[in-house]
Amino acid sequence: MNTVCVDASRPYEVKIGRGLLATIGAEAAQITDGQVLVVSDENVAPLYLSQVVENLRKSGLTVSSVSVPAGESSKSVEYYVNLLNLLAAKRLTRSDAVIALGGGVVGDLAGFAAATYLRGIPVIQIPTTLLAMVDSSVGGKTAIDLPAGKNLVGAFHQPSLVLCDPDALSTLPQDVFRDGCAEVVKTAVLFDRDLFDHLREYGMDFDREAVIARCVAHKRDVVCRDEFDTGERQLLNLGHTVGHAIEKCSNFAVSHGRAVAVGTAIMARAFSEDADAIVSVLREFGLPTETEFSPEELAHAALADKKRSGDTLALVVPERVGRASIKRIPVGELLTVIKAGF
Ligand code: GLY
Repeated sequence: MNTVCVDASRPYEVKIGRGLLATIGAEAAQITDGQVLVVSDENVAPLYLSQVVENLRKSGLTVSSVSVPAGESSKSVEYYVNLLNLLAAKRLTRSDAVIALGGGVVGDLAGFAAATYLRGIPVIQIPTTLLAMVDSSVGGKTAIDLPAGKNLVGAFHQPSLVLCDPDALSTLPQDVFRDGCAEVVKTAVLFDRDLFDHLREYGMDFDREAVIARCVAHKRDVVCRDEFDTGERQLLNLGHTVGHAIEKCSNFAVSHGRAVAVGTAIMARAFSEDADAIVSVLREFGLPTETEFSPEELAHAALADKKRSGDTLALVVPERVGRASIKRIPVGELLTVIKAGF
């Protein structure tokens, strides 16, 4: 097992190891001796929810659970308010806890409910997708969507514990696993040539536990230096400006991971001396590196992105594998950059 300690405003551990799901009762009992509400979704619940609930009960906890529809539509004001009402109906207190069992949507929704109910109660993240294990479950970003855009309402609320069990990835549909690979490649491109070389050598057969631990350690380092996302943490948005534009132009038919893969490829071709290697690793993972949308359509969609501030835009520039920087460009230059990376 690997343990990564995150020394954020609320210090916590991210535990990564096969079989860890079976330890949730003992782990949760270190955080609360009262009640837990497990939040899951309709894909994950049939696979793992009863095992988790039983394990928690064996540790003497009072357990209830709720399952939301799988997919981004559950990150809505409606499901958020339903969750708050359920927490209130069950009379959870600040010494109780929420457990998020699922991918990024469940983690964000349950995390935001935990962040705001009673001005904040503990949340334990149990990510079941690769993307959630290497990125969204760590670092305390929680959010729901508004009709105007994704993640427009949220809070920083660090979890009390993150448990990653790579065995949960065995039930993940291949496409969803590949989506997570896009974030793994992104992490390697940003911070870690050795990790990049490992991915190049092993492709989809990479060492899951070691790679997840390595990505989490990189994320920990960034989050500890810039917990509230005012500077360096924005590096984690590599490929996301164009990626979000592709998601939006496709009306979210293109998944986040695939959109980020294209965004990363475009930024690499525009800026990186290792562009060919980056594009070839993304392809090795079965991820797209091109899009049907035109540079003009992408620039137009990207300029409505919430991360734009005034007349400039923060762009993550991959210089070479293992080295990236943040560059503020005038919004008018975005189209030129996208064209350069096409
Ligand atoms: N997923 C990007 C971040 O946590 O900052």
